[in-house]
Amino acid sequence: MTTRYTVPRGTYDILPSDSFKWEFLESTFRQVAKLYGYREISTPMFEQVEVFERSAGDKTDIVQKEMYRFTDRKGRSFALRPEGTAPVIRSFVENNLGANVNVTKLFYIGSMFRYDRPQSGRSRQFSQYGCECIGSNHPYYDAENIAVFWTYLKTLGLKNFVVEINSIGCPDCSEAYHIALKQYFYKSLDVLCPDCKDRYEKKPKRLLDCKVSKCKEISLYAPSMLDFLDQKCNTHFLEVQKYLDMFQIAYIVNPRIVRGLDYYSQTAFEFINNNLGAQNALGGGGRYDGLVQQMGGKDTPAVGFAGGFSRLLLSMEQENLYQGENQRPKYYIATLSEKATPVAIKLIHFLRTKGHYTEFEIEKTSMKAQMKSADKLKAEFVIFLGEEEIEKKYLTIKNMDTTAQWKVEEKEFIASMT
Ligand code: HAM
Repeated sequence: MTTRYTVPRGTYDILPSDSFKWEFLESTFRQVAKLYGYREISTPMFEQVEVFERSAGDKTDIVQKEMYRFTDRKGRSFALRPEGTAPVIRSFVENNLGANVNVTKLFYIGSMFRYDRPQSGRSRQFSQYGCECIGSNHPYYDAENIAVFWTYLKTLGLKNFVVEINSIGCPDCSEAYHIALKQYFYKSLDVLCPDCKDRYEKKPKRLLDCKVSKCKEISLYAPSMLDFLDQKCNTHFLEVQKYLDMFQIAYIVNPRIVRGLDYYSQTAFEFINNNLGAQNALGGGGRYDGLVQQMGGKDTPAVGFAGGFSRLLLSMEQENLYQGENQRPKYYIATLSEKATPVAIKLIHFLRTKGHYTEFEIEKTSMKAQMKSADKLKAEFVIFLGEEEIEKKYLTIKNMDTTAQWKVEEKEFIASMT
């Protein structure tokens, strides 16, 4: 018996019937990011492990539990990228992209890899889009970064999403907050889930992020970070809101947004589609003022976001926003005799080089079967090449939408295209 192979768990094929949906999401993202002055960057799918350990944080779930690590033939440790920010910052520093400009705006599209339990909207290989704005700590850029994401979703036609924002403060104001959180959770330590017990010591903020219902219940009345912001962080957060108001972007302040990566400070935000089930974050991001320096660059503030295409695709389907595949042939060449084949081949080659999607089936079938094919493909025009057409050098053309049919001299038809 021969073995039948399947895709690895947590990965999927994008089949031809769906690829137009992905292409639309990607091309629209490119268009929108460029409207805001972002320029595309592509980094490798794998990096030295330290790129992620030093940035995302060596104690985070993403780095500790979810990263695909491997050693190459020379014993060097690499990881498949679990996210795009750290590689972009590595490249920004390595290539000195900030030289001679105040603000560097970069966007990317690419596959990321996280070893997690697969479910709807969560896979082990997934495609992310993201924007990183590097070089300013002005709160305007936090709002503008949120605006790129918002405009993208609006351009796609999506309605069912909300923007949630928070400030997680800076290391200075976090200290007192962590003490308050630990005091609050201390009395419930025994009943917290094992992950939260671990978070209690390492990252008390992430206790607010747990999806286990018992932990969620306990954290309901936990102190809010917003009550612990120092004046600088508080002013920054209010300014971000002021600019969002100017952009007329509606948002909810949600003090429970904490983010799962270590590099954030101050602004944190998420775009949520509440109809998506457990994996309801269309995307998220925030400010990460310390990362560039941590990665060996100059002290350079930055803000950015990323989102997953698969959750967008689900949202688009839920809101019925795909009109169907827009790939119909302009011409279908139907032939009746072997004599017509060389003429047909010359003609299809000519039409394709002129930029027209043209179909032709070399293996002879009846005229009825060819018309059925043209219909199925939704061809706009069928060009008939029968005995008479070949002999007298003309073409019979049928408009498949109106059924109008006419004859035109081959020479004239070709001249009309050049
Ligand atoms: P993140 O929140 O880890 O942030 O991921 C951003 C988005 O990627 C999520 O909201 C979700 O839409 C998508 N995503 C994450 N994991 C999966 C998965 N396993 N399957 C499908 N989609 C997934 C970051 O990655 C940060 N780098 C964002 C950022 C950019 N912060 C600043 N700049």
